[in-house]
Amino acid sequence: MKVILLGAPGAGKGTIAKLLTDYDGSVQISTGDILRAAVKAGTPVGKEAKAYMDAGGLVPDSLIMKIMEARLQEPDCQKGFILDGFPRTIPQAEDLKKLLTKLSITLDLVVNLDIPREVILDRLTTRRTCSNASCQEIYNIKSNPPKPDGTCKKCGSPTIQRDDETEVAILNRLETYNQKTAPLIGFYRKEGMLKDFSSLSSQETVEGIKKSLKK
Ligand code: AP5
Repeated sequence: MKVILLGAPGAGKGTIAKLLTDYDGSVQISTGDILRAAVKAGTPVGKEAKAYMDAGGLVPDSLIMKIMEARLQEPDCQKGFILDGFPRTIPQAEDLKKLLTKLSITLDLVVNLDIPREVILDRLTTRRTCSNASCQEIYNIKSNPPKPDGTCKKCGSPTIQRDDETEVAILNRLETYNQKTAPLIGFYRKEGMLKDFSSLSSQETVEGIKKSLKK
């Protein structure tokens, strides 16, 4: 599958992307995970991105497009990909359209994950993420806790709260989403690519996406 997941912070993009990769081996590409790994490794990209991320703002479009142009040409993308957190602005969506044309890739579906704001706030304050950059499994202390000692069930590394999980950063991320990312819903609806899904139950959402892909 070649799918884009759109949704506010905490809508469940990462959770659903991971479930979809089990379906047909398509690879999850999360620009957030790529950037967090770069920050942790202290690369030039990570150094440039960190301040934007911690404040809940967006990393510049030019930097993201450089990352994604390279990433989409890696061999594992040939089986299919699930874009999680990209594109996030109209210029990124326009550049992605040009890039996909250049690479002769056709998208199957753009998924819009719909979720009430109070659920988002609750989910983001209770999320825990595996600190191992090559794992980054997502947990929630209410709905899907890590091991009782706080370590990851998959790789055993400690789970942590992300640097952008402060109340101020969460509110900024939601504001940034409303201003910069929500307009993509109209962009992809116009292109005839968009489908809306409630994101309250991840399993039901995944089943709905699979059904849409089979049509
Ligand atoms: P990114 O990592 O993409 O963050 P985000 O969009 O804010 O999304 P989240 O990862 O917070 O949430 P999610 O929707 O994946 O939800 P999750 O599945 O974890 O980006 C981080 C930053 O990087 C950005 O702020 C920006 O600075 C930068 N960046 C990234 N991409 C960029 C781009 N393209 N351009 C510019 N800048 C970019 O779920 C949340 C919680 O809810 C978890 O605890 C989970 O367990 C729980 N949960 C999920 N589903 C359910 C359910 N059905 N029931 C109960 N609990 C659930």
